[in-house]
Amino acid sequence: MSEITGKTAIVTGASRGIGRAIAVRLAKSGFNIAIVDACPLEMSKDCEDEVKTLGVEAKAYQCNVADFEKVGETVAQIAEDFGGIYILVNNAGITRDTLLLKMTEQNFDDVIAVNLKGTFNFIKHCTPFMMKKREGRVVSISSIVGLEGQAGQVNYSASKAGIIGVTKSCARELASRNITFNAIAPGYVETPMTAVLTDKQKEAIFEMIPLKRYGQPEDIANAVNFLCSADASYITGQVLSVDGGMHM
Ligand SMILES: NC(=O)c1ccc[n+]([C@@H]2O[C@H](COP(=O)([O-])OP(=O)(O)OC[C@H]3O[C@@H](n4cnc5c(N)ncnc54)[C@H](OP(=O)(O)O)[C@@H]3O)[C@@H](O)[C@H]2O)c1
Repeated sequence: MSEITGKTAIVTGASRGIGRAIAVRLAKSGFNIAIVDACPLEMSKDCEDEVKTLGVEAKAYQCNVADFEKVGETVAQIAEDFGGIYILVNNAGITRDTLLLKMTEQNFDDVIAVNLKGTFNFIKHCTPFMMKKREGRVVSISSIVGLEGQAGQVNYSASKAGIIGVTKSCARELASRNITFNAIAPGYVETPMTAVLTDKQKEAIFEMIPLKRYGQPEDIANAVNFLCSADASYITGQVLSVDGGMHM
């Protein structure tokens, strides 16, 4: 039996985009996958089926990551269904982009509630299970704009910078329990989230990418997989940029 056989990974926002690629990549490494998403369960079915074809267990759960109590119930159910939790990937995220002048309180609160508090909610409810087994891996998806800021994304960049703070503080608090916390800062990745940008915006971004290609969900998934692997057991509290060299 390999050292990861039977271990479970929770991936939030896994029905599509980067989250789905992460679920599939971790399944290829042999992890069982709990697919968490806010959408109705039917919409997570494709991801669930794809993961199952890779020979591991998979189950989808409908849960709004911003809902503290629902997250608690969902995590408890996952732990019961799979017999424990080894990996948590905080991937669910939203944007409500607009310039500060036009940004409403609701725009700000919605993004913080999902991206930042959602990350806290899952960490808060998952870590007791990891502490009990004295092992765990938490990878949270931040963003290049959490490092650099971005006009039109005061809310989003605040949430993504906040994820970095949460990651580093948790890394310090729980290192003694053999739980690592790292963040990944993607640049521009082709997903439904970025499909709304205009061609002009996409071209401007392309010019800023030294490696001269847009990121793919698999680029992020490979980095998550590395941070969850035995090869990364001595890495904690780090932010790994996966952005074709945009942020150096
Ligand atoms: N794409 C990029 O260029 C890029 C760059 C940097 C960082 N990121 C980050 O990478 C992560 C994934 O982004 P993506 O591009 O794959 O976005 P996406 O295609 O929009 O997917 C986001 C996923 O999160 C889910 N989600 C949204 N709100 C949720 C909630 N309240 N509770 C549970 N699930 C929720 C969505 O499900 P529903 O269908 O239910 O809405 C969807 O499955 C996000 O955190 C994003 O900020 C992306």
